[in-house]
Amino acid sequence: MDINFQKGTPLEIVGDCLLVGLFEEEEFSSGELNRVNLALDGSLRPLFDEGELVGKSGTSTLIHTLGKIAPKRILFTGLGKRDSVTEKVIKDVFSTAIRKTRGIGLTRVVVAVDTFSSENIASKRVCELITLATINGLYRYEDHISEKSEKNIHEVILNTDTSAEPNVTSYIAIADAINLARDLANAPPNFMTPRILSNIAEKEAKANSIGFERLDEDKMRELGMGSLLGVAQGSSEPAHLIVLKYIGDKDNPDDSIALIGKGITFDSGGLSLKPPAGMITMKGDMAGGAAVIGALIAISKLALKINVYGIIAATENMPGGKAQRPGDVVTAMNGTTVEVINTDAEGRLVLADALCYANHLGVSKIVDVATLTGAIRTALGDQIIGAFGNDDEFTKEVIEAGAREGERLWELPADESFSKHFKSDVADIKNVGGAAGGATIGAMIIGMFAEDTPWVHLDIAAVSRTNANNGDDPKGATGSPIKTLVSLCKFISAYRY
Ligand code: BES
Ligand code: ZN
Ligand code: ZN
Repeated sequence: MDINFQKGTPLEIVGDCLLVGLFEEEEFSSGELNRVNLALDGSLRPLFDEGELVGKSGTSTLIHTLGKIAPKRILFTGLGKRDSVTEKVIKDVFSTAIRKTRGIGLTRVVVAVDTFSSENIASKRVCELITLATINGLYRYEDHISEKSEKNIHEVILNTDTSAEPNVTSYIAIADAINLARDLANAPPNFMTPRILSNIAEKEAKANSIGFERLDEDKMRELGMGSLLGVAQGSSEPAHLIVLKYIGDKDNPDDSIALIGKGITFDSGGLSLKPPAGMITMKGDMAGGAAVIGALIAISKLALKINVYGIIAATENMPGGKAQRPGDVVTAMNGTTVEVINTDAEGRLVLADALCYANHLGVSKIVDVATLTGAIRTALGDQIIGAFGNDDEFTKEVIEAGAREGERLWELPADESFSKHFKSDVADIKNVGGAAGGATIGAMIIGMFAEDTPWVHLDIAAVSRTNANNGDDPKGATGSPIKTLVSLCKFISAYRY
């Protein structure tokens, strides 16, 4: 699908449908309605008088223009009141509208961009939001469906006098990265093993001038990654530590950020086996790793002036004959010993060694992204990412980076007062606490391996997939928090210009 620009009067651009945004409680004569009405010999006015075109958020009206103007149809979509419109409203409304045009089999859609803009949100930003809503909102995962959908939008034409081409190019890169991450997390677990994940990462790295290295189990053993290998030993699929390296700031080689992703390609729970209902979505337990791969690709396409490592701890968590047992003690790369009380709390075990490796590389900052705990959903619901950190300023930077792109993050505590809950009688720590504060305990265990490096942990267990279409997140994997990660790297790199 192409996104193109065309200036001029929207009513003269040939297309299957013109998309027009309508604000609530506005004069008929003040905007696009009046122009369309005049072009259609006054036939629109009665609809307005009957209350159909009032711009209430969530409403839409499709009209056929029957050869009177260049667009064959016009879809009017309500945006609510002009002064209360948000970026989320624009993305939600637009995603629904563009899916509707695809649903009726249209292929070439024109957007009257300026009808979506307001004092709060300028046309340039509207172009960026529409790019995300189009590419991400139209996403479908059909790799294993024999009869693919035939309805497809081929071209979206942004009609505006604003020059937003570079912005749209950047946001296409971000939206594509999100869809790639969704593909990885939606893939069935027999089609997304650690080996397949690392092969895809390698292919994408090569295509995007990103360095790639794969540490196999022998190498991990040599480095002393007993905590990651303990999780891997229950599976017949070998584990991989995937290391991506984007060098965008050659002059400051010692300054770098590590984005670390949990890459459990299937989480059965191990010997602490999950019940069937809780296991079915566990192909998505590598969503953090997928987001890191996507973020690196977008960062490279945006040519950000920053050095970024992407580290993905990829393994299955299976209950095979060699599986680790509850009660086993493993030793991570930094020498910390961990008593494995519950083999289903495996994310922190694989991330422990991934963080040690980031420190071994000498990175200056760490963000880890993980579908870590069910507890985060209880705490924050399914729209908000849990954020934890050891450095207030850095944590704030990450949260604000997300806010700029409409990803909601909320900080939860990770202070020493929780440490007593994961003290072990037989090792330095154990891998679970009691029932209370589960998301914090998980975060704090990971944080021990950040040592003195500024670190933020993002628990995406609740937001990594959605059970129903939700704005520009169609049902399935969401690709969260790629926008946060890219926005953060954009912010850090802006210092350097
Ligand atoms: N992968 C799960 C967390 C998860 C749960 C992700 C639901 C997505 C949706 C993780 O490995 C896990 O099993 N965590 C346990 C931790 C517990 C044993 C301390 C959990 O949350 O129950
Ligand atoms: Zn688990
Ligand atoms: Zn897991």
